[in-house]
Amino acid sequence: MKEWDSFDTITKGKGMWLIDSKGNKMLDGVASMWCNVWGHSNPQLVKAITNQSKKLQHSSMFNLTNEPAEKLAERLVKISQGMYKVFYSDNGSTAMEIAIKLALQYWKNIGDKKKTEIATLKNGYHGDTFGAMSVGFVPEFFGKFKKQLFSTIQFSVPNKYRIPKGFTFLDYQNYCLENIENKFSKNNNIAAFVMESGAQVAGGVMIYPKGFQKKISQLCKKYDVLFVLDEIATGFGRLGSMIQYEEQKSIPDIVAYGKMLTGGYLTMAATLTNKKIYDSYLGEFNDWKHLFHGHTYTGNPIAAAVANENLKMYKKNNLIKKIQKTSKIFEKFYQEISEIDIVGDIRHKGMLMGIELVTNKKKKTPIHPKKSINKILFEEGKKNGIYLRTLGNIVMLVPPLAISEKDLDLLINRTIKTIQTAKSMLV
Ligand SMILES: Cc1ncc(COP(=O)(O)O)c(C=O)c1O
Repeated sequence: MKEWDSFDTITKGKGMWLIDSKGNKMLDGVASMWCNVWGHSNPQLVKAITNQSKKLQHSSMFNLTNEPAEKLAERLVKISQGMYKVFYSDNGSTAMEIAIKLALQYWKNIGDKKKTEIATLKNGYHGDTFGAMSVGFVPEFFGKFKKQLFSTIQFSVPNKYRIPKGFTFLDYQNYCLENIENKFSKNNNIAAFVMESGAQVAGGVMIYPKGFQKKISQLCKKYDVLFVLDEIATGFGRLGSMIQYEEQKSIPDIVAYGKMLTGGYLTMAATLTNKKIYDSYLGEFNDWKHLFHGHTYTGNPIAAAVANENLKMYKKNNLIKKIQKTSKIFEKFYQEISEIDIVGDIRHKGMLMGIELVTNKKKKTPIHPKKSINKILFEEGKKNGIYLRTLGNIVMLVPPLAISEKDLDLLINRTIKTIQTAKSMLV
């Protein structure tokens, strides 16, 4: 904390740029925490917010509903193959808490008392609340709370850059999947398998190999384990497809969306379930099968209105196609980035790139300077007019999804320059 004794105050956002109180401009390289879609101050999104704010600012979803939230639920179900109903919350962590509770209670609702355990992937991340920390346990972030967290069954994720000795990448992938199947075949108490869809983002941009997620979904079906996906960071185009689980051919029982849902303008998240889960909650009052969960701002009409506008714009502007094209710019820089002598690995998919920094390319030793890498690269990036936020030794590039080729080119160029000039402070 001592490193952060003063902050720049952002007073304006315009397009892909953030502007501080002194008039300095920074290209938003992290989409304001991975959520911005169209850039800042987009007139259509702002209009959706203003229009709705004149009509109804907030009304509870307890006993009632509201028009924008209803419309949004219809839209979300329509684009989410296999999903049937929507449960709103106000951030990704709570959307995951709801997903976990829905999955655990499902088994109780249908009279199965044994299925109480959660399986998950090592190094996943699902948010900072206690349930989310338990399921997405990143030791560096949450080690201090370990005693208070519930235990989960964790499985390894194949990482092409760090394959254990004696394995090929494919062998190791199969080994990871076999471990899951072995456990599933011996343990009938697993209620759900929870994982990020398509890639682990906070865990270091680990993009799953082809077929990995699909196979897990198949194992879940085979062994009667609910399959729960977190698309909060990876859905809505971040990895180049609207719904990542469709691309991965792995329809879940429960899925959570957040971040990009409102274009990155207001706080809202959604947990969707299939009919099987929903129906299990349809008891008489005295059956106590309903879910005791709700947040004050659940289904907020202004957030829902901007989310509706955002989704309309995805369609109208053919955003997913645009992302697929623009994101090719990243590939142009693969060689140049990997030639930097502190870059060990580059991982990229869609509008997401992770650049792993190491002190020794051969030994793959992660960089570990005295000051935080984040602080060093943030300050250096600022000098180059870009906003960067690294996670551990991974430089993350997570730009607003509608970024132009020109701006993306600029962002990557300036990132390269930033890593180069920060090098002497990092090693
Ligand atoms: C995959 C994933 N799930 C959940 C969350 C938590 O979302 P929030 O920060 O909105 O609580 C995040 C946040 O980065 C995330 O990346």
